[in-house]
Amino acid sequence: MATPPPLLYIETYGCQMNVNDSEVVASVMRDHGYAMCSAAESADLVLLNTCSIRDNAEQRVWGRLAELRALKRKNPRLMLGVIGCMAERLKERLLEQEQSVDVVVGPDAYRELPSLVSMAKAGQKGVNVELLREETYADIAPVRYDSNGVSAFVSIMRGCNNACSYCVVPYTRGAERSRDAQSVLREVQALVDSGYREVTLLGQNVNSYLSLAGDRSAAPCTFAQLLDKVARLSPQLRVRFSTSHPKDMGDDVLHVMAQHRNICKSIHLPAQSGSTRVLELMNRKYTRESYLERIAAIRSILPACSISTDLIAGFCTETEDDHRQTLSLMREAAYDFAFMFMYSERPGTRAARRYRDDVPEEVKARRLSEIIALQNEISLKAKLPYVGKAVEVLAEGFSKKSKEQLFGRTSQNMVVVFPCGDHRVGEYLSVTPTRCTSATLIAERE
Ligand code: 5AD
Ligand code: SF4
Repeated sequence: MATPPPLLYIETYGCQMNVNDSEVVASVMRDHGYAMCSAAESADLVLLNTCSIRDNAEQRVWGRLAELRALKRKNPRLMLGVIGCMAERLKERLLEQEQSVDVVVGPDAYRELPSLVSMAKAGQKGVNVELLREETYADIAPVRYDSNGVSAFVSIMRGCNNACSYCVVPYTRGAERSRDAQSVLREVQALVDSGYREVTLLGQNVNSYLSLAGDRSAAPCTFAQLLDKVARLSPQLRVRFSTSHPKDMGDDVLHVMAQHRNICKSIHLPAQSGSTRVLELMNRKYTRESYLERIAAIRSILPACSISTDLIAGFCTETEDDHRQTLSLMREAAYDFAFMFMYSERPGTRAARRYRDDVPEEVKARRLSEIIALQNEISLKAKLPYVGKAVEVLAEGFSKKSKEQLFGRTSQNMVVVFPCGDHRVGEYLSVTPTRCTSATLIAERE
């Protein structure tokens, strides 16, 4: 009788890029005989794919490692690995402080995972946190092990060349590199062929994508051109992308979006702050005015486009006046949605080296709660016009609250919950919301 394959459990923290990286890791490990499982308790190998963006992301992982240490005591043959951004940033501390960790692997070394795990099984820690200027995992077909079969992330580039002073990503993920356009198109085509209805093209700064093509003979391909090519693969395929940097978000991308019905009308354009003075300290390379000019360009070229953002409360030296400027920017931009954070100093970043983290925690917390309260108001206002109007929705799954309801999203990335009826996941349908909250459109009848 054949021996059963060893089982791998991956737990993913952080951004969409990490979700996709876990799928790359699953692919590498499957090629080396592993099968996926859905709980740490039944696994032979547990990998935590970690995030370092804010201190609380790291704290969660330390907490989880303590739990897994206990699990390992019960099952000494269990192998435990920390991969991703925290592995890159905290290799030494992880190895010193956590005896139970067997492998530590950074974001560019996933191809080495099988051999590092074998090494760990033989009694030596498996460690590789080298950052490689060329690695894009272009030839690895991600295994979509936790997918709804409808939407998939496709990574088009890795790393980041911006130097936002608060941000750890350039240190954990290294320099920016674009994946060659042909391999992106092949991956999306394969997803279309297996029934997927939505792809999200991922990069830290998609607007600076530039593919020079594998053999260097083809013409370079910009992000606008790639977006156009992906959108042409199938009219049934929705195309999204994230994240855009305001300094690089050109009109060329907006015009391509306008030309294709299947490119979703939704742009994530992180502002971080509404104060030009703070933006300069953050090294964002745009002003409040030039940011608002980009918002105006979106509104004029794509009148029905939703805009979302990221905001940081309490960056170094932020005054009440700077904070009020963030609130007023939010009103002017009228964001549909925002991710909102308190500033968290990251060791080694430019802000940590040059500026004092001088806004008291309680002031950061109060400013953040004002930002959240205002965004809730604005989000609600942005949804009201959709109540009573038919919207096109791609059904993505069952609602968390009830098996009788499905949820999906509109092109504008608004979540809609509606009765199942005869509808299936993966179907496009027209739904008329009857009410809304600040986060969700709700259809009570079919
Ligand atoms: N503190 C708080 N928020 C941060 N972000 C990045 N670094 C930090 C930090 N040190 C936020 C930014 C970014 C999002 C992914 O996380 O808003 O756009
Ligand atoms: Fe993603 Fe940034 Fe967190 Fe790394 S640190 S997982 S790039 S959000």
